[in-house]
Amino acid sequence: MNKATAVITAVGKYVPDYILTNKELESMVETNDEWITSRTGIKERRILKGDNKGTSFLAIKSAEDLIAKKKLDPKEIELVIVATASPDMQAASTASFVAANIGATNAFAFDLDSACSSFLYGMSVASSFIESGRYKKVLLIGADKCSSMIDYTDRTTCIIFGDGAGAILFEPNKDGFGLIDEYLRTDGFGREFLKVAAGGSLLPLSEENIDKKLNFIKQDGKTVFKNAVFNMTDSSERIIKNNNLTLDDISWLVPHQANKRIIEAVGRRMNLEASKVMVNIQKYGNTTSATLPLLLADYESQLKKGDKLIFTAFGGGFSWGSIYLKWGYNS
Ligand code: UT7
Repeated sequence: MNKATAVITAVGKYVPDYILTNKELESMVETNDEWITSRTGIKERRILKGDNKGTSFLAIKSAEDLIAKKKLDPKEIELVIVATASPDMQAASTASFVAANIGATNAFAFDLDSACSSFLYGMSVASSFIESGRYKKVLLIGADKCSSMIDYTDRTTCIIFGDGAGAILFEPNKDGFGLIDEYLRTDGFGREFLKVAAGGSLLPLSEENIDKKLNFIKQDGKTVFKNAVFNMTDSSERIIKNNNLTLDDISWLVPHQANKRIIEAVGRRMNLEASKVMVNIQKYGNTTSATLPLLLADYESQLKKGDKLIFTAFGGGFSWGSIYLKWGYNS
């Protein structure tokens, strides 16, 4: 009997209504549409407004979208993983609140964080639970309220990030569809280059470090850029070689959306046709854990059963990698 693989059987998404345009950013910081567009490819991003709404709000909406589209009984879900770098609280987990609110009353739930690689790593974790035979329905959500970590007076970061969420369902498959292989890596010496320094156990929030704005995302953009291009290309090429694939075999590259120039550079270095590279950064900016599932949701109608997808991401940690997955359905 063939070993079961973990296949994606449904996709859902949610982005907040409020659109923060480059034009509006021009009134907030010293920047302009031409600079943002040419340096990042971003035209607008979504921002979650209103009191008492955290990352769970985004995650719940994206899961509800998936549940409605799939006509899924949430009681059948056995595990809910929320990949996020902006949990509702330090404790308890965002995932437990999400599971309760979507009616996944028979599931256990936990959060998973590895900055912009959270969802990619989440795919590895979620699919392992399926491959082991232990569970048959695992819901993986990537959600981030990045606006909660942004200093809207810092032009080097506020133009990049946005809020959003996407959800996927993994189920077992005996016909060879789903997650086939992965190449995942971290390098902890990279953490100095991309971080929110305060708010954790190392530097708990205090008046002093809030005054120093250490509760916001800070990055050395150029170092992150170079490492992202090199490692996303390297891990994708390794996974292609390890699985004896040619570029013609690849249907889609599904890259983390941090900067359009990074995405294009990775595609170029791999010699992959630009038409095979998924891009939606112009609409949402960098939504951290939500970029990969938002791509799947936006491209779902173009995906065909048997399509060979290479997912790749790079983020804080540093953390990065690539996953090879065979798409399992026509929509
Ligand atoms: O998901 C993983 C997380 N993040 C990333 O992957 C991000 C990786 N890095 C990047 O995307 C890019 O490095 C940035 C978009 C952050 C910056 O682009 P860059 O081409 O590396 O620009 P830079 O930092 O070298 O800045 C060039 C100039 C500077 O002015 P001077 O020193 O040349 O006079 C900046 O002060 O552009 C200036 N600048 C801006 N100008 C207008 C920086 N931000 C802005 C801005 N508007 N928003």
